[in-house]
Amino acid sequence: MVAAGLLALSFFTLALGAPLAREPLHVHDSRSAAPQGFKASSAPHPDTVLNLRIALKQSDPTGLIEKLYDVSTPGSSNYRKFLSKAELEKYTAPSAESLAAVTSWLASNGVKATPGATNQWLNIEVPVATANAMLDTEFSVFEHQDTGISAIRTLSYSVPASVKPHLDFIYPATSFPVNANKAASRVYFASSAHNSTHERRASVDASCNDAITPSCLQALYNLPTTPATQSSNTLAVTSIEASSASKSDLSSFLSQFRTDMPSTTAFSVQSIDGGQNVESQASVEGSLDIQYTVGMATNVPTKFFTVGSDNGGDLTGFLDLVNTLIAQDSPPTVFTTSFGFPEGLVSQDIATNLCNAYAQLGARGTSILFSSGDSGVDDGEGGDCTVFRPTFPSGCPFVTVVGATQGTSPETAASLSSGGFSNIFPAPQYQSDAISSYLSTLGSTNSGLFNTSGRAYPDVSASGINYQVTINGTVTSVSGTSASTPVFASTIALLNDRLIAAGKPAMGFLNPFLYSSGKSALNDVTSGNNPGCGTNGFPAAAGWDPVTGLGTPDFNKLLSLLQVQ
Ligand SMILES: *[C@@H]1O[C@H](CO)[C@@H](O)[C@H](O)[C@H]1NC(C)=O
Ligand SMILES: *[C@@H]1O[C@H](CO)[C@@H](O)[C@H](O)[C@H]1NC(C)=O
Ligand SMILES: *[C@@H]1O[C@H](CO)[C@@H](O)[C@H](O)[C@H]1NC(C)=O
Repeated sequence: MVAAGLLALSFFTLALGAPLAREPLHVHDSRSAAPQGFKASSAPHPDTVLNLRIALKQSDPTGLIEKLYDVSTPGSSNYRKFLSKAELEKYTAPSAESLAAVTSWLASNGVKATPGATNQWLNIEVPVATANAMLDTEFSVFEHQDTGISAIRTLSYSVPASVKPHLDFIYPATSFPVNANKAASRVYFASSAHNSTHERRASVDASCNDAITPSCLQALYNLPTTPATQSSNTLAVTSIEASSASKSDLSSFLSQFRTDMPSTTAFSVQSIDGGQNVESQASVEGSLDIQYTVGMATNVPTKFFTVGSDNGGDLTGFLDLVNTLIAQDSPPTVFTTSFGFPEGLVSQDIATNLCNAYAQLGARGTSILFSSGDSGVDDGEGGDCTVFRPTFPSGCPFVTVVGATQGTSPETAASLSSGGFSNIFPAPQYQSDAISSYLSTLGSTNSGLFNTSGRAYPDVSASGINYQVTINGTVTSVSGTSASTPVFASTIALLNDRLIAAGKPAMGFLNPFLYSSGKSALNDVTSGNNPGCGTNGFPAAAGWDPVTGLGTPDFNKLLSLLQVQ
């Protein structure tokens, strides 16, 4: 018996081994060189364990995008009829055949996959030696010369022909670290540069020209102060590692600037990838984001998602966060993020996958807001800028990107407001009229410096200069699109509260609405520009422009439009 068993086992191994040995491996992804600054320094120890994620081919990604537009376009019979988790999975889940092909290939290499955040993903932990053999590659330690960041990556990897059609990509293999902290949409301290000389709008206090507080924003955008009532309407706020927000700072902020709200109004915290909100280490970004969501979206349940670094680094945190939200039975109705990256540093496969994940979350009914960045037409990365350099995920057509304005009567573009055109994503249809009319106004200005076929951003804007934020007990002035974005997100959250209270669905993916009927409910911003790369950048103009988008919100006008849609 023992002998027979052994024999059977070795025969089995041989049987499995033989076809594999013959099955040719095909290059699945490659790059000619590591990104600038990275140098291969050494071979990692063969036992070093790599955490890799496998993106499986989704069953119907094109159908999902069609469905997203179907539920997001005013006038469609399915407008704001969002997808349940099960309905979404009909488009996104891999086929049983794909799952089997990939898992049996992994098993034949002795690798066991564990489920990822959604069923589009598998996670594997493999020693370098195994990864090198099964992917016919050689992982190396790469070091970045300036930042000292090191990562185990490869320039190319291969998979068997039988697996290739079922596997989208493996991450992070050829995708190099993008330093989230360095590239985070930066917050600017106001004392350095900004001295506003605008006249005031009658209803907006004169002090708002020097210091933005919640009451300034309420006056500017007609935002209600009455508490929201709907518990199903939730606001999710992103915190990338180490941008903590303090509950005691929030409480003192509310006591000073929202005397009509209980100073005990709190937010909840959910950890992703080991992230922690450290009460004693309040950051500028985290404090700003929490105080201008909890302090603006009065009584809307707000959750702070702290993304840690237990994830192999850089864009993995963004992926893990959006996939966590997609997989929830009731995802948040609004999701706001004030972090981003230079688009030039993000590889195409991960950019596309992440952008499609935002489309999925939009189809579930979430309005997704991102700040455009704080470096005008440049990406804030430093170095030579010979052509305008866009930010990411601003170029993703399935998110709503928020730029910054300053002053009150009228608002003008804030010069830091990032805006431009993606080199990865083409312009979506909802935007094509807006872009062509801007380009004809622009004429030959900046010709050759930007990609006229790209998805353009920002979509909208909000005040972004001289926000009063309580940090470690002291009120500090903070500026940036990081300030504008939570305020636009709060506006949407307050609208959702009214809509849900009236028995209507939340707003979901905003852009098709904003670029059609919605723009009449925004304040068009027509002056100012966003210099960078040795130019004056783009000028703001009547209608959409790549500095302030379609304009800033008017809550009352938006509400009356939406009540009839
Ligand atoms: C702002 O500008 C005015 C007029 O030029 C000047 O008097 C004032 O000192 C400036 N304020 C700051 C803070 O720079
Ligand atoms: C707030 O204080 C903590 C503790 O001293 C410190 O770690 C943190 O950096 C401070 N935050 C800011 C934005 O200065
Ligand atoms: C311009 O954008 C398109 C996508 O709209 C892209 O395919 C093309 O490669 C971009 N061109 C450059 C020079 O980056």
